[in-house]
Amino acid sequence: MKTLPPNLDPTRLPRHVACIMDGNGRWAQQRGLPRIAGHRQGARTLKDLVRCCKDWGIPTLTVYAFSTENWQRPLEEVSFLMRLFERLLHQELAELHQEGVRLQFLGDLGALPAPLQLQMHRATTETAHNQAVTFNVAVNYGSRLEITRACRHLAEQVQRGLLAPDDIDEASLEQHLYTGSLPGPDLLIRTSGEQRLSNYLLWQLAYAELYFTAALWPDFDRTAFAEALQAFQGRDRRFGRLSPVEQALPA
Ligand code: FPP
Repeated sequence: MKTLPPNLDPTRLPRHVACIMDGNGRWAQQRGLPRIAGHRQGARTLKDLVRCCKDWGIPTLTVYAFSTENWQRPLEEVSFLMRLFERLLHQELAELHQEGVRLQFLGDLGALPAPLQLQMHRATTETAHNQAVTFNVAVNYGSRLEITRACRHLAEQVQRGLLAPDDIDEASLEQHLYTGSLPGPDLLIRTSGEQRLSNYLLWQLAYAELYFTAALWPDFDRTAFAEALQAFQGRDRRFGRLSPVEQALPA
């Protein structure tokens, strides 16, 4: 499925898709494999999804790779994930760059291992001008912390006399989020049957359509993605307004 499946309308695709890549551990356990095998397979799934977004004309993809709460996992798994992120960046950067992928990282990156930070910095600067797909990876990310941090930045500006409290609006707060001026996701996909946001993009998802699937992340292939997009295209997005039909009826 290199081209967009015929049942999808190319003019009504989401501009920005966010994913909570859940179920790697269960995928591995179901096969009698260690959990890390699930993360490895999950990374392959992710790689194809980035390519799929490019092939099908979806300009922005944002995935949740590691939350601020994930440090509580066994040390062995955390270390594996950190090494996996670093290795993938090292191995895949040239190809992603060649394909026009712009890589960005969201989260408290300063707390990550130094070699990983270095790879992230390199990936961000090298791909900064690419335009085919913007691929955001949330690492050591927590939405409440992100919003708190944005408030702190604004408070500091007020304290320094650079900003009046009345000047604080949604747009100025948004500028201080990790996502900056990036438009919010139109569609959030969470795999593995869980139906929670888990502290992910709480501000940015205000008007996103939510799609939950029982598929485990390593099994989330192009067919599963097409199903999510089809569900998205079947939604009536009103952003708090009335639908055109309701609009035409007397109040
Ligand atoms: C959640 O599944 C998955 C993660 C915490 C890690 C996600 C990482 C990848 C997909 C690897 C590649 C990512 C990048 C950005 C290079 P889980 O472990 O919570 O699964 P479970 O709920 O079945 O235990």
